[in-house]
Amino acid sequence: MTGPAPVRIGVVGYGLMGRAHCYGYRVAPMLRRLPVTPVVTVMSGRDAAAVAAAAAAYGVPEHVTSWRSLVEREDLDIVDICTPPGTHAEIAAAAAAAGKAVLCEKPLAATYAQARAALYAVTAAGVRHAVGFNYRRLPAVALMRRMIADGAVGEPRLWRASFLSDEFTDPATPYDWRFDRTMGGTTIADLGSHLIDLALWMVGEISAVCAQSQTFIGRRTLTGGGTAAVTVDDASSALLTFSSGARGTVEVARAAIRRPCDFTVEVNGSAGTLAFDYARLNELWFGAADDDPATYGMRRIRAEHPSHPYAADWWPIGQGVGYGSTFANQAADLLADWPGGEWTPDFGQGARVQAVCEAMERSAAGRRWVPVAEIAPDDSGPPARVQLPRRPASPASG
Ligand SMILES: NC(=O)c1ccc[n+]([C@@H]2O[C@H](COP(=O)([O-])OP(=O)(O)OC[C@H]3O[C@@H](n4cnc5c(N)ncnc54)[C@H](O)[C@@H]3O)[C@@H](O)[C@H]2O)c1
Repeated sequence: MTGPAPVRIGVVGYGLMGRAHCYGYRVAPMLRRLPVTPVVTVMSGRDAAAVAAAAAAYGVPEHVTSWRSLVEREDLDIVDICTPPGTHAEIAAAAAAAGKAVLCEKPLAATYAQARAALYAVTAAGVRHAVGFNYRRLPAVALMRRMIADGAVGEPRLWRASFLSDEFTDPATPYDWRFDRTMGGTTIADLGSHLIDLALWMVGEISAVCAQSQTFIGRRTLTGGGTAAVTVDDASSALLTFSSGARGTVEVARAAIRRPCDFTVEVNGSAGTLAFDYARLNELWFGAADDDPATYGMRRIRAEHPSHPYAADWWPIGQGVGYGSTFANQAADLLADWPGGEWTPDFGQGARVQAVCEAMERSAAGRRWVPVAEIAPDDSGPPARVQLPRRPASPASG
């Protein structure tokens, strides 16, 4: 092999995210001159034939059916977790104990307690850790955050976001982990965690939430026959109070017909407004209080100029990027200074997102405002050891 030395990665899970992460590692060296060459050496999955087929398709030379055998391999530097959220903390803890850096898909876990346990494990082991909040790495979203931090909108006062999908609208969609609360399948965890991460990143800590949730289709068919109760929300929305005094709203739904993956984020500050719409993901809308009133309104920024985040790594201006680019940007960011460099967002951020998501669930269940400190009273101190839930040694996490 020519070029920089390999950094060896094991990917746990071969579904949508296993594929996206393998794509990201493959493309990253084409974007930036990295000090190492990412090589996905092995992939794990519970179904031997399916993981073999996936590994062949993604160009991964080895595959195993046990994530434990993957994390314990001595030839790996990084374990990349792409399984359902309810499995994340246990896999992350084992990978950290084996001395591996850990990239974990979002949300960090199914509960705040699990997220804290994962944070404790990586902190105690002294390994690098990051959560895959990939939408941060869209050029327009990164530019939005940079402009807010640079004061373009003044002091943020209002933040609103929605994430709409039609994933759960067909009653014939069979039961899988996405309908199982213990696996972290809630719509709040799945779609909401992305938005809450962006809220915390752009505007700062959230102190309290008031949420409502609804499940419209209560039972789903099992592939082996029979039905199972759905234990997740189809849709949720919440009012948010930020520690800064800013106010926010968030809506997430997998019950929105003909809305495939539509998310919007807007911030209104004391001096301006910024708005992002994923359907036009290379653009950002901006208006400032001191703009010439003769052209009153918002202007469209093309977030593709070489001066914009990530844009210089990609295509000539006007060509744009897409969803897959976020995974390549993520891989390039994490490996840019390997084995040094900062990994962000880290498990601490993942745990803060989890606390807000859990506060939303508690608020909806109890029909009351819930302070985030009620979920995360320990957030400012070092992570305490938290017992991970003991799950049967079944093939539940492969
Ligand atoms: N960042 C994003 O844009 C994005 C998009 C989709 C999913 N995700 C996240 O990625 C993770 C994986 O999601 P996905 O869409 O790739 O899932 P998927 O269902 O497509 O794949 C899941 C993988 O995990 C394995 N697995 C291990 N234990 C399992 C269990 N108990 N039940 C079911 N599968 C199990 C499966 O074999 C499979 O390889 C989740 O945390 C999800 O929230 C992130």
